[in-house]
Amino acid sequence: MEYGGLIYLDNAATTYPKPPEVYGETVKAMLNYGGNPGRGAHSLSLAAAKKIYECRESAAALFGISDPERVIFTLNTTYGLNTVIKGMLKSGDHVLISDMEHNAVYRPIYKMADQGQITYDIFHSYPHETKDRTKRICSDIVQKLRRNTRLVICNHTSNICSLKMPIKEIAELCKRSGVRLLVDGAQSAGHEKIRVDEMGIDALCVPGHKGLYGIQGSGMVILGRGIKLSTLVEGGNGVNSLEGKMPDFTPERYEAGTLPTPAVSGLCEGIKFVKAVGEERIAEREKELFRQTRERLGNIEGVKIYLPQHEGSVLLFNVEGFSAEEIGERLNREGICVRSGHHCSALGHRTLGTADSGGVRVSFGVFNNNEDIEELAAAVNKTVKER
Ligand code: ALA
Repeated sequence: MEYGGLIYLDNAATTYPKPPEVYGETVKAMLNYGGNPGRGAHSLSLAAAKKIYECRESAAALFGISDPERVIFTLNTTYGLNTVIKGMLKSGDHVLISDMEHNAVYRPIYKMADQGQITYDIFHSYPHETKDRTKRICSDIVQKLRRNTRLVICNHTSNICSLKMPIKEIAELCKRSGVRLLVDGAQSAGHEKIRVDEMGIDALCVPGHKGLYGIQGSGMVILGRGIKLSTLVEGGNGVNSLEGKMPDFTPERYEAGTLPTPAVSGLCEGIKFVKAVGEERIAEREKELFRQTRERLGNIEGVKIYLPQHEGSVLLFNVEGFSAEEIGERLNREGICVRSGHHCSALGHRTLGTADSGGVRVSFGVFNNNEDIEELAAAVNKTVKER
């Protein structure tokens, strides 16, 4: 679908456009209930707090947890991941992360290790394996577990291709080993079902502005049962105001400072939208778009698609004789928005063998249609012919 003459295929960075009700509720929050949630007994503050709670309840239902108090609002996924990583790890701990992690995981872990606070190892995602991939991943994790391993961190779906990780099996293995599991759901939330309690996830971090169709400025941590973290940020939250200590209870313990009511209100509508369309239907539609893109781009001479067998909302490719950035620029000139380069994923690109070249990433959302893909293929074709 065209918006302002542009075809938007960069939904892994942020979805665009949003459903009309998301824009509507965001504006309504500013105009109709613009008080500070939890900071006053007047009607505008209470109305804002009510909306925030409504969003907490919707998110709890979407992610399959029984108590909305375990939904913590953050600025984005990166803040969520930092909250859990720094709130859970103690000096001397060992961590395992996958070889497909985004810098939102890699950089905080790298820094903590660099400062001598923790140690870490990287386990393999075996992206090219066609047989026994889950078994191999789990066995690599088992081999790398140490006496002091506290946490395994793993994304659900990569942000550079559609490779998924076997979260349920990894969670079972973590439970058996007495290790916590943190899942980065930046590219899977809203794209497929995630049930935190049922899947045995100890903490899930998600963005509000990607697959959940909220606006930028909202993200969430969904905590597993009984998980208590040390706080990353301290400050006022409208409760126990005379005490110096942050409260022990969730979500207030982790929500210091004013929450972004307009963004959370928009997110509330985004979650309703995802529920109404259905995660399974969204996933199926995105796979269809993936298959169409794979077929159309695959027919163009010099195009290389990475991990084409893993179908989903993200497809990575390069064109022989062009840098990824050059393709991104040419597509932009044709009115097509994609993201080229390294996508903040040093580990992922090393794993795929694209650390030198980077890649051109096409990512789908519910508002894309088949014509968008035809236009993309025509633009890539044109670029190749101009070589
Ligand atoms: N993490 C986002 C991306 O992959 C911004 O583009």
